[in-house]
Amino acid sequence: MDLDRVIKERRSIRKFRPDPVPREVLQEVIELALWAPSGMNRQEWELVVVQGKPRDRLLEIVSKSQEYVLPHLQELFSEKMINISLQVFKNLGGAPVVVLVTIPKEAVHIPEGLDPRGRYYLEFNRYSRLLSAAALIQNLLLAAHSRGLATCWMTGPKYMEEEINAFLGMEGRELVSIVPLGYPDQSPPAPPRKENVVRWVGFDNT
Ligand SMILES: Cc1cc2nc3c(=O)[nH]c(=O)nc-3n(C[C@H](O)[C@H](O)[C@H](O)COP(=O)(O)O)c2cc1C
Repeated sequence: MDLDRVIKERRSIRKFRPDPVPREVLQEVIELALWAPSGMNRQEWELVVVQGKPRDRLLEIVSKSQEYVLPHLQELFSEKMINISLQVFKNLGGAPVVVLVTIPKEAVHIPEGLDPRGRYYLEFNRYSRLLSAAALIQNLLLAAHSRGLATCWMTGPKYMEEEINAFLGMEGRELVSIVPLGYPDQSPPAPPRKENVVRWVGFDNT
C-alpha cells in the first residue's frame, strides 16, 4: 500500500475479529516498529507481545482502568460517546494480541521555579525515551495497517501500570502504551483533523 494511504487510512479500531494473527506477520510488524528513530540511538524501548490465556488475564487488569479514565472522558464527551469509549477498556475490543511498550523507569522531580534549561536537563532522558517510544508505536500502527491489521494506541490502561507490570514481569520499567492488535471488525469514519495549526514563517503569501 502507498505510504500516503497507509498514513491517512489507518484508524483507531476498537472492535476486532477473534481470528488469530500469524506469528510471521506479527514478527514483520514488530521488526518494522523497531526501525523507528530513537534519541541518541539508544533504543531503550522494550516490547511485550501477549496472546492466549495471559492476554485474557491482561484484559481483566486493564478493565479496572475504566473508573480512572471516566473523568477524562467526561471532560470531553457526551454520555453516548463515553459508553462507546469505555467499551474498549472492558475487553480491548476483543483483540487477540496486545503489544505493550515500555521504557526504563526514572522518577523526575521538577523543583518549582526551575528555568526551562534546568527543567529540560532533568527531563532529558524521560523526554527522549517517551518520544522514541512514540515513534516506534506509530511505526507499529502503520506497519500493521499496511498488512490489513488493526490497532488502537492506548494510554488509558496506564492507570493499572503497577498491576500490569507485576503480571508481565516488567517491574523497573515505565509502561508507555498498550496496543491491542488484530483484524478489524469495524471501519469507523476518520475523525476530522484540526486546521490552522501550522504557521508558515518566511514563506510568500502568494
Ligand atoms: C498518545 C495516545 C493515547 C491514546 N489513548 C487512547 C486510549 O486510551 N483509548 C482509546 O480508545 N484511544 C486512545 N487513543 C486513540 C485516539 O483516540 C485516536 O488516535 C484519535 O481519536 C484519532 O483517531 P484515529 O486514530 O482513528 O485517527 C490514543 C492515541 C494516542 C496518540
